[in-house]
Amino acid sequence: MNGQGPEKKRVIGVLTGGGDCPGLNAVIRAVVKSAVSAGFDVVGIEDGFKGLIENRMRKLAVKDVSGLLPRGGTILGTSNRDNPFRSPVEVAGETDFRDVSNGAIANLTEHGVEALIVIGGDGTLSIARDLSRKGVKVVGVPKTIDNDLSATDVTFGFDTALVTATEALDRLHSTAESHHRVMVLEVMGRYAGWIALEAGLAGGADVILIPEIPFKIWKVVDKIKERRAYGKRFSIIVVAEGAAPAGGQMVVRKIDPLSPDPVRLGGIGAQVGAELEELTKVETRVIVLGHLQRGGSPTPFDRILATRYGTAAVRLVQEERFGEMVALRGQSIVSAPIDEAVGTLRRVPSDSELVATARAVGVSFGDGE
Ligand code: F6P
Repeated sequence: MNGQGPEKKRVIGVLTGGGDCPGLNAVIRAVVKSAVSAGFDVVGIEDGFKGLIENRMRKLAVKDVSGLLPRGGTILGTSNRDNPFRSPVEVAGETDFRDVSNGAIANLTEHGVEALIVIGGDGTLSIARDLSRKGVKVVGVPKTIDNDLSATDVTFGFDTALVTATEALDRLHSTAESHHRVMVLEVMGRYAGWIALEAGLAGGADVILIPEIPFKIWKVVDKIKERRAYGKRFSIIVVAEGAAPAGGQMVVRKIDPLSPDPVRLGGIGAQVGAELEELTKVETRVIVLGHLQRGGSPTPFDRILATRYGTAAVRLVQEERFGEMVALRGQSIVSAPIDEAVGTLRRVPSDSELVATARAVGVSFGDGE
């Protein structure tokens, strides 16, 4: 008390941006629980940067976040189309883009938000970095099933997507083996092949096609024939949505002009499956795993990582280390400038130990002469 009524508490804002991802709720829970016990109030911003632009925020109490650990998605809602620095407005029937960041910042001030925790992937964190350059006190938390953010070894959500993709490969083995078929599983990952590579390794795929290693279809055909020659009449192929043939292009499913990252990949699985069936005459089926990889309850690994990230983000706020993002390096939670995380995508090095391990157990990447 200061003689003029109770002192106002310091307020932390939290938002989730970009595609949803298992573990978002676990981060929100960790932020709220640890911030409240450190004496802060927490305000949740609805639907990512859309809610910040439209001034939609609500107080989050501890009771609002209990039971959230196992829940997929985000109780705050999210958007991968809204950017306060490039917000669409209709002018004479045409869509134009305006910088509405000053209004968004004023909305934070109106709610007394002193620091903003932004949970997102590279698109969302790039916006967070730009807000930080305008003076907003921002802390980042790295999220994406694609695991393609620099400055951290792992993003939360990746492990859950990996478990889903691995289980899909396990299940596809039954039909592949029983019907002597080729089964092609297309997984997400954008321009990085982490989900395909690690699920392929864990799920015993015979061929793994990733964006970082351009493939030749006849090398995949060779692998299928080699397996048949020693009595294995089925083959399992995992293909990342961003994989492309040598000299060819990634397959674009859709362009979303309103999104900061407008390209939506998808369709390479169908292309590969059709070519393989034609060239090998082996009955082939294609399965696109799609958003199943983003749904469901986070794995224990992701729940723990999300909890470590959420509590570490609040510590960064307390230590006034703004413009930083929490990160995992080895076994330790550290922090790094958000700028470092969003500068370049973290892709699979084609000479990495994981790729070499896969090759050592006979996996083909569809490359070579
Ligand atoms: O970044 C996550 C991700 O799921 C990518 O793997 C995928 O390419 C993209 O988002 C799909 O976006 P949307 O949900 O807009 O179709």
